[in-house]
Amino acid sequence: MKPYVICHMVCSVDGRILGQRWKSGGSAKVFEDTAATIDSQGWIVGRKTMAEFCSKKPRRKRRGHFNVPKTDYVAPHTQKTFAVGLDPSGKLHWETGNVDTEHAIMVVTEKVTTDYLDHLRKAGVSYIFGGTSALDLGKVLQKLHKLFGVTRITVQGGGSNNGSFLNEGLIDELSLVVMPFADGAAGTQSVFDIKASGKRKLSHRLKLISHEVYQSQHIWLKYAVLD
Ligand SMILES: NC(=O)c1ccc[n+]([C@@H]2O[C@H](COP(=O)([O-])OP(=O)(O)OC[C@H]3O[C@@H](n4cnc5c(N)ncnc54)[C@H](OP(=O)(O)O)[C@@H]3O)[C@@H](O)[C@H]2O)c1
Repeated sequence: MKPYVICHMVCSVDGRILGQRWKSGGSAKVFEDTAATIDSQGWIVGRKTMAEFCSKKPRRKRRGHFNVPKTDYVAPHTQKTFAVGLDPSGKLHWETGNVDTEHAIMVVTEKVTTDYLDHLRKAGVSYIFGGTSALDLGKVLQKLHKLFGVTRITVQGGGSNNGSFLNEGLIDELSLVVMPFADGAAGTQSVFDIKASGKRKLSHRLKLISHEVYQSQHIWLKYAVLD
């Protein structure tokens, strides 16, 4: 079974997502407060966004083979909600298996070393294999359901992560808070960034579900993704 997927983001009026550029805009709080109202068992982000929650120190890599099979691993945990990160090459450095109140699950590929898998196990982080060298995100969602019981989850950036899910037709709903900033930085991340080189549709159709003025300044839009 594929969990129901809601993409939740805040953006400028021109669809850009680097909230730290919008001086005194409070985008992080707007993001967190609106996200907290969404019924979901966790969130999925790209490796660059997840880095904000990981150790900033470089990880000491060890040579040799570690006796860890390249199969999915569910670390002991009591949490019922999950922080999922796409880290196909195993770049992130973990010191704990939690992100705030969520249990951390990394999505890796068979490119990762047994040293890295051992590192995740020692930190208490669960991991699932999403492919040999590229990720099959449909398969990843099915594993999140099968191994962790996830039936509803949010996809929360950045643009590359969101774009991958959209491009594979895996997003059911979009929850978008438009903040009153015109950003204008050409080439910076936007709500959906899909590489021009791969297979992609010209656009995806949406159907408006609801619109609301949020805290008098922001527009909160919800859409069903039709295709
Ligand atoms: N405004 C908002 O609501 C909001 C929300 C979240 C994040 N953000 C911002 O977004 C920025 C980061 O966005 P971003 O687009 O540059 O990065 P991102 O989506 O956070 O991470 C991209 C990385 O994730 C991995 N990845 C994503 N999709 C993949 C796929 N289909 N297959 C394999 N790997 C995949 C790749 O890692 P590798 O490079 O290791 O292969 C890729 O380089 C940050 O500045 C963050 O603060 C804004």
